[in-house]
Amino acid sequence: MEINKDEKLSEGKTKIIYSVKGQPGLCVMHAKERITANNAAKVNELAGKAAVSNKTTALVFEYLKRAGIRCAFERILDDICLLSRRCHMIPIEFVCRRVATGSFLKRHPGVPEGHRFVPVKSETFFKDDANDDPQVSKEQIVAMGLNCGSRKITGNDVDILEGTTAAVFEILERAWHSLDCALIDMKVEYGVDAETGEILLADVIDSDSWRLWPGGDKRLMVDKQVYRDMAEVTDDGLRAVLRNFQWVADKLPAVLSSPKGRVIIAMGSATDADYCKSIAAELRKLGVEQVDIRVCSAHKATRFALEVGALASDPARGPTAVIAVAGRSNGLGPVLSGNLCAPVINAPPVSADWAGWDLGSSLRMPSGLGCVTVLGANAAALAAAQILATGVTEHSVWARLRAAQLTAWVRVLRDDERLQESVNKSQ
Ligand SMILES: Nc1ncnc2c1ncn2[C@@H]1O[C@H](COP(=O)(O)OP(=O)(O)O)[C@@H](O)[C@H]1O
Ligand SMILES: [Mg+2]
Repeated sequence: MEINKDEKLSEGKTKIIYSVKGQPGLCVMHAKERITANNAAKVNELAGKAAVSNKTTALVFEYLKRAGIRCAFERILDDICLLSRRCHMIPIEFVCRRVATGSFLKRHPGVPEGHRFVPVKSETFFKDDANDDPQVSKEQIVAMGLNCGSRKITGNDVDILEGTTAAVFEILERAWHSLDCALIDMKVEYGVDAETGEILLADVIDSDSWRLWPGGDKRLMVDKQVYRDMAEVTDDGLRAVLRNFQWVADKLPAVLSSPKGRVIIAMGSATDADYCKSIAAELRKLGVEQVDIRVCSAHKATRFALEVGALASDPARGPTAVIAVAGRSNGLGPVLSGNLCAPVINAPPVSADWAGWDLGSSLRMPSGLGCVTVLGANAAALAAAQILATGVTEHSVWARLRAAQLTAWVRVLRDDERLQESVNKSQ
């Protein structure tokens, strides 16, 4: 699809937004060669900044979208332009913090720098350059009666966006952690899709958006704080800022690529192949793509079953979980569990008539065995993914799990909202 820029819709400190000919639902975000701080009290032209910001935003949003976060970002168009869903922006900055530093310390005297927020801390600020983006509470945002397109921003929306911001932060924090870089805090913005009315994560996420400390060491910071802290802006100083931003953009492909974990689904009998394929399909939804499905009865082909299980012990194949699928008497899961250090999840396909009898063989173990048992393809895949996601390098699986939990939570809040509306209408 050819994208032709049409009229200029808006221009801010760091980018210009254009409509797209014949595509009212889309916009082009054109990055400017400009860096600003303290709500544009400090402004400098910086050649090369547009391309580096553009690349950073594209990589970050591609990762978030793949994880399952609803984003306005569509795709990168060229060096300095992105294609995005056109939004009515919500004029609130959603901030999430893991470590107390910067403005938080000024607003909360007594809190030591470096204090860790567990869980992460959410804050909201009204986008108002003239008044230095004042902090606002949920109640104040509701009282503002913000109309974004056809949508009025409610307290429920604010709760959901704070929760979404925490998930986005944690997903990116975990990815950066795989390269021993600490994501300290971050701000994001949301918009209401001009066509669908859905609230999407929008704007950009680049080195302007976060604090990032390699090795968790503030002195090594590679974010915009270096620019904010400059008493006098020099060409050398600006070059150093750009070098940091470039370092971040160059590291991102490695940060965001992650081995996706491996699962061996071992079945006692080929009659369970369809059930095993449905587990594999659930695993793929969670980002686990390396799935081996094997038939290997522990009762009838013991040595072969152990040979298949041995694949889980080869470190070159990466972290591996085993799902054992055996009906009637489950010898397979316990035998593999007793002979491997890999996690073994029993997912017995229970029959309507014998379920009660069959389950005993997955639950009652000899001493020294620690396999677990779940029922159903979805639960088996989730258990394996959650075990794999504990690995520092398997952050893309963790990201899918985190985004799926966010989606489930949002669905409950929205369902309740709709129900309340219909109850109120009928009263
Ligand atoms: N997906 C989008 N659709 C429409 N407008 C957007 C989208 N993403 C960002 N914007 C808007 O683009 C404008 C320019 O961005 P920016 O230069 O960062 O502005 P600001 O200085 O207000 O932060 C802002 O008004 C921002 O809200
Ligand atoms: Mg901005």
